[in-house]
Amino acid sequence: MKSLTSASIFIIAGHLAFVSFSVSAAGIPAICQQSAKQAAVHGAVYFINNDGNANKIIAHEIQQDGTLKFGASTWAGGRGSHGNEAPAPNGPDALFSQGAVKVSGNHLFTINAGSNTAAMFEINQENPTKLHMVGTPVSTGGEFPMAMAVDSKRGQVCVANGGAVNGVQCFKADNKQGLIEIQNTLRPLNIKQSTPPTGPAGTVSHILFSEDGTKLFASVKGVPPTPGTSPSHILQLSDPLIQTNKGFIATWDVNPDGTLSPSFKSSPPSKGGLLPFSMTVIPGKNSILNTDAGVGFSVFDFSKGDQASSSVIPINGQKATCWSSFSTKTGTFFLTDIGTSTVSEVQVDGNLKGSIVKQYPLAPNSATIDNEVATVNGKDFLYVLQPNATSISVMSLPSAGQAKVVQTFNFADDAKKGGITVDANNLQGMSAFVKA
Ligand SMILES: *[C@@H]1O[C@H](CO)[C@@H](O)[C@H](O)[C@H]1NC(C)=O
Repeated sequence: MKSLTSASIFIIAGHLAFVSFSVSAAGIPAICQQSAKQAAVHGAVYFINNDGNANKIIAHEIQQDGTLKFGASTWAGGRGSHGNEAPAPNGPDALFSQGAVKVSGNHLFTINAGSNTAAMFEINQENPTKLHMVGTPVSTGGEFPMAMAVDSKRGQVCVANGGAVNGVQCFKADNKQGLIEIQNTLRPLNIKQSTPPTGPAGTVSHILFSEDGTKLFASVKGVPPTPGTSPSHILQLSDPLIQTNKGFIATWDVNPDGTLSPSFKSSPPSKGGLLPFSMTVIPGKNSILNTDAGVGFSVFDFSKGDQASSSVIPINGQKATCWSSFSTKTGTFFLTDIGTSTVSEVQVDGNLKGSIVKQYPLAPNSATIDNEVATVNGKDFLYVLQPNATSISVMSLPSAGQAKVVQTFNFADDAKKGGITVDANNLQGMSAFVKA
C-alpha cells in the first residue's frame, strides 16, 4: 500500500497530466502503476552553484541506466564565495577543494563558503532530487568552509575552513535538530591565508576520515617560493621554482567520543610532491591516495602512525590533477585534471605502488573537476562535473580500463528555464545518492 502511494506522488512530479490520480493509491489504474515503475527515480547527483547571493544545491536524477535527467534546486541556507586567483582571473574550482557536498545515508551536507555555515538536509526517498533542510545552518567555527567529511557509523560530520580563520570543526548529525557542534573538535591548521583565500597554491584542499574512523585528515597545498610565480592551476613540474613548501596532510586522532587530539601531525609529500589536493581511502590498507595538482598523485601510508611515508607517481602531461574517487567494481581510482580535461584511471597494488591504467580525454577546456562513483542497478558509473561546459559526463565502469562515456549531460538550458544561476566559475562538488 505504501509503495503505491509513493508511486502516485512521483507521478505528480514527473507527469502533471496524472495529478488527478494522486488522491487515492488504491484508485490508480494498472497502466499508471506500470509507467510509474518504469520512471522510478533511483537516485540523484548533487553539486552546488556556490552563488555569492544564494548558494543552491542542484540535483539531477540518476535514471535506471545510470544516465542523468534535470532535477531540482534547493537553497543551501547561505551564500557561496570564490577564492582569489589574483593576479590570474578567477576560473572554475571556486573553493580550491573536493568535498563541498557530501551524501551519507539519507542525508546530504554542504557548506556556504560566503556565510561561514554548514547545513544538513534530508533526501526525499520518493524523489531524491528533493531536499528538506534539517535544523538550521550552523557556524563552522572558521572562515570560508570549503569541504566536508562524514563518518556515517558515528554520525559525525567535520568541516574544513580555508580562510583567514582556518582549521576543522566537527558536528553530530542529528536527524531532528540537524548539525550540533561537538566540543573539543575545533582545531586550527595555522596556515597563513586571507578570506576568501588566495590560491590555489597554499590553500586548504580536502578533509577525510580514515577508513576505520580513528583519524581525521586535512590536506593543504604547498606554495612555490617566488612571488609572482604562484597562483595558477597550471604549474609545471619542470618549473625550477617549484620545491620547498610542498604542502602537507594534517592528521588528528579521533577519540571514541568523537573529540579530536589537541594538535595534528604533519605529513609532507615525497620529493616531487607540491600541491596535495583530494584524498581517497585505499580500502583495507590504512593508506590514502592523494591527488597532487603539481605532479599527478601520491600514496600516503599511515600504517606506521600519523606521520606517513609516501610515494609520488607523476602523470605525464598533467596540468592540475585535483579530484579523485574509487570504484569497488573496477578496484581503480578516477582522477580528474582541470587543466587537461582528462580523466586518469589509476591503480594501487598490494605493496602500495601506484600506476596509471588508462586515460580518457573529455571535451577540451570543459574543466573536469569534482567527480563521484555511484552504483546503479549493480553497475558502477562515474559522474564528472565539467563547469566550463555546464555538463556532467557519465562514464560506465564495467571493469578496469574499460570506462566509457555514456552521456554528456548539459544542464544549462534546463537551469535557465528553472531560473537557477549557473556560473561556470562557481560550480563545485559532486556527491550521489542511490536508493538501496
Ligand atoms: C574555461 O573557459 C574559458 C573561456 O572559454 C577559457 O578561457 C578557460 O581556459 C577555460 N578553463 C579551463 C580550466 O578549461
